Amino acid sequence: RHLLKTELTGAQVIVVSNREPFIHDLEEGGAVKLRAPAGGLVAALDPVMRTCAGTWIAHGSGSADHLTVDADDRIAVPPDNPSYTLRRVWLSEREEKHYYYGFSNDGLWPLCHVAFTRPSFNAEDWEVYEAVNQRFADVVVEEARDERPVVLIQDYHFALLPRMIRERLPDAVIITFWHIPWPNAEIFGICPWRERILDGMLGSSVMGFHTQYYCNNFIETVDRFLESRIERDSSAVTFGGHTTHVHAHPISIEWPPASLSRQPPVPASRRAIFDRFNLAPDMKLCVGVERFDYTKGIIDRFRAVEELFKRHPEWIGRMVVLQVAAPSRTALPAYQQCQRECLDFVDELNARYGHDGYQPIHLLNESYGKDEVYGLLRAADLCMVTSLHDGMNLVAKEFVAAREDEQGVLLLSSFAGAAKELPESIIINPYDTCGMADALLRGLTMSPEEQRERMRRMRETVRENNIYRWAGNMLLDGARLRKRHHTANVT
Ligand code: G6P
Repeated sequence: RHLLKTELTGAQVIVVSNREPFIHDLEEGGAVKLRAPAGGLVAALDPVMRTCAGTWIAHGSGSADHLTVDADDRIAVPPDNPSYTLRRVWLSEREEKHYYYGFSNDGLWPLCHVAFTRPSFNAEDWEVYEAVNQRFADVVVEEARDERPVVLIQDYHFALLPRMIRERLPDAVIITFWHIPWPNAEIFGICPWRERILDGMLGSSVMGFHTQYYCNNFIETVDRFLESRIERDSSAVTFGGHTTHVHAHPISIEWPPASLSRQPPVPASRRAIFDRFNLAPDMKLCVGVERFDYTKGIIDRFRAVEELFKRHPEWIGRMVVLQVAAPSRTALPAYQQCQRECLDFVDELNARYGHDGYQPIHLLNESYGKDEVYGLLRAADLCMVTSLHDGMNLVAKEFVAAREDEQGVLLLSSFAGAAKELPESIIINPYDTCGMADALLRGLTMSPEEQRERMRRMRETVRENNIYRWAGNMLLDGARLRKRHHTANVT
């Protein structure tokens, strides 16, 4: 943190993301309630912004926004300890429909995740996506106090933004982080606007991905579709006279997470959940926490539970799954279908294997706040992260952070970026139902000593590679480029 502060002295840090760090909702009775949005991005960047006291530009989306807007659409956050500025951009329904639901979440999201859900590419979505990126570029330029801000652009909603900013602030240090996977060139090539997207991203000074594999895929994609100079050794791409450094920066969580200070000791966390769901003390508890998204492999883990029950009926009545599935992007048919299929599957499975008040799977179709999530993770014997594909997956890391008792087993998809950092988990293939059922059995019967051994190593990794390291490394990349550029201009 200290390093960050000193290296960035004098630099203005501007973050751009689709999501706001705080959503202002209107409660019954007229009070305004603050809500942190689902997903890992805000959890990752809020601590950085508190440290750097910068400006965060995002799409305003809460139901109470009209009450909290000041004349400039600027607001000091967080409310309990104002330390940085939130500048909101208001999108029309049409903009939200085509830019957010359309091109971002019905096009780029399935394209990059390769979860065998067909991406839709629609010309109107694309036009609005471009126009919204342009609107954000205008706001960045408006907010920039000088010619050389450090701009941190987040995610696939803003692939065109780096170039748009570069054109107007040529000396800005632009660090773009792509929070989702990057597929290989063959797959990315199906996007009708592939060259435009790559060109947009290459306006960045640094292009960050979670893993070296995604960096390599990106570089190969550029090589395939653009006339550029690639230096593979230094992982740099020069296009149109400008160089972009392509670096792997695996994202992480705060250590220790702030929520932990509000948790009772682990046995009490466990008792609270067991009481709430009326579970017998010797019941084995498996948990999952995600947005209700088809990339998360939720139904696939339920299939593994069914397989376990078929092969080892002695587990019926001895284990339960608590699955939090927060409603997400519900206007999109692919999400509605995923939700329907999961709910139907759970109904059938519970009808077949449930008895006398025993319900094998509790599917909680609601959003949990951070404290509730940590409470659940502390109560579990086993945590299931079975994504079909996932940039990183922070729930895996949160589970590790939650387990101060060094107990608990993590089942982790080999297709989540986190698998590279947490090889001491039980690595599974979510497409292999039988293999996953075996892994489940292995997890349920793992000795406390083995759990401790594995958990200890995972905790060391997450403690070391925490969110400050992620942000620090990326910002240091940026700060060095900024200095280099400054020196070059002076000499
Ligand atoms: C993923 C994306 C984030 C996004 C989050 C929640 O983690 O990488 O950019 O904010 O999902 O999705 P939502 O569409 O609700 O913002």
